[in-house]
Amino acid sequence: MSVIATTDAVLTARDLTRHYSVSRGLFQPAASVQALNGVSFELQAGKTLAVVGESGCGKSTLARALTLIEEPSSGSLQIAGQEVAGASRAERKQLRRDVQMVFQNPYASLNPRQKVGDQIGEPLLINTQLSRLERRDKVQAMMQQVGLRPEHYQRYPHMFSGGQRQRIALARAMMLQPKVLVADEPTSALDVSIQAQVLNLFMDLQEEFNTGYVFISHNLSVVRHVADDVLVMYLGRPVEMGPSEHIYSRPLHPYTQALLSATPTIHPDPNKPKIKLSGELPNPLSPPSGCAFHQRCPYATERCHSELPQLRLLEARQVACHHAETING
Ligand SMILES: Nc1ncnc2c1ncn2[C@@H]1O[C@H](COP(=O)(O)OP(=O)(O)OP(=O)(O)O)[C@@H](O)[C@H]1O
Ligand code: SF4
Ligand SMILES: [Mg+2]
Repeated sequence: MSVIATTDAVLTARDLTRHYSVSRGLFQPAASVQALNGVSFELQAGKTLAVVGESGCGKSTLARALTLIEEPSSGSLQIAGQEVAGASRAERKQLRRDVQMVFQNPYASLNPRQKVGDQIGEPLLINTQLSRLERRDKVQAMMQQVGLRPEHYQRYPHMFSGGQRQRIALARAMMLQPKVLVADEPTSALDVSIQAQVLNLFMDLQEEFNTGYVFISHNLSVVRHVADDVLVMYLGRPVEMGPSEHIYSRPLHPYTQALLSATPTIHPDPNKPKIKLSGELPNPLSPPSGCAFHQRCPYATERCHSELPQLRLLEARQVACHHAETING
């Protein structure tokens, strides 16, 4: 009997962990920052996983691990079914092509001295045998798709607005039709008035190329309309993960509830208490014992101080909170 693959996963992360060794000064032993701790998920072609959490929770560390910019300290990563660890040099090169990235600041990721058309076409130059004319045609087709005009080909990055630069970065990232696009806060440096346009462009291209997106944001409301699944992180660990309709309509983790309370809604639910995020984020060099959120959580008990809550299945998502049932009962 043949086994028919039922999954169309383009990216599978299992228990991804990344520690950094940080110097604490002369004569002091180095400390370890657990920037990423036990992140697992599966991303399907054409779907979007939104990764959300406050500054320093490990979003960019995750992005660097997924795009093979940095090795995880432990855990495994598969791209379109292929294990990254143990891949040969040639296979790794192909895997790098399959996962592209768009950064928060498009200006920093563009070369100020290279014409925009040449930058968009560079992945074709490096990775394909296409002739100059063939490359030019493909670049112009992609430029049109992202809303740039043909005469923009010859211009330099400084001649464009922030939103246009992000269109250029996106065009270049999509040039080789990657299986996965990791976008790290791609709209947070842009004017609010053009964020929606750029988000829509991301979604149009996803539909066209069936790319899987990992979309990173510190703001849950920004990703509300693009996310199929949401992963909420706190101090390097996943605290709630599941289908976006469940997370947004009934967040179960107090931290997710607090993040959602912080974003204004048109129809606030009067029966739901607003949880305010009070207190500072803990120091990642000496994370709190037990649940890392306990110093800021209004529901924290003795158990929360000593026992680390594990992710478990509850109401169609995974949540890491000892008291999720009582809190949401
Ligand atoms: N190269 C590094 N060396 C040491 N510590 C690091 C390094 N990179 C990140 N960290 C630490 O790891 C933690 C996670 O950082 P990361 O940049 O992934 O967070 P982030 O969620 O992307 O934050 P932001 O929203 O500010 O971009 C932080 O405590 C950060 O200081
Ligand atoms: S485990 Fe305890 S401290 Fe952590 S979120 Fe749940 S109730 Fe709050
Ligand atoms: Mg970051």
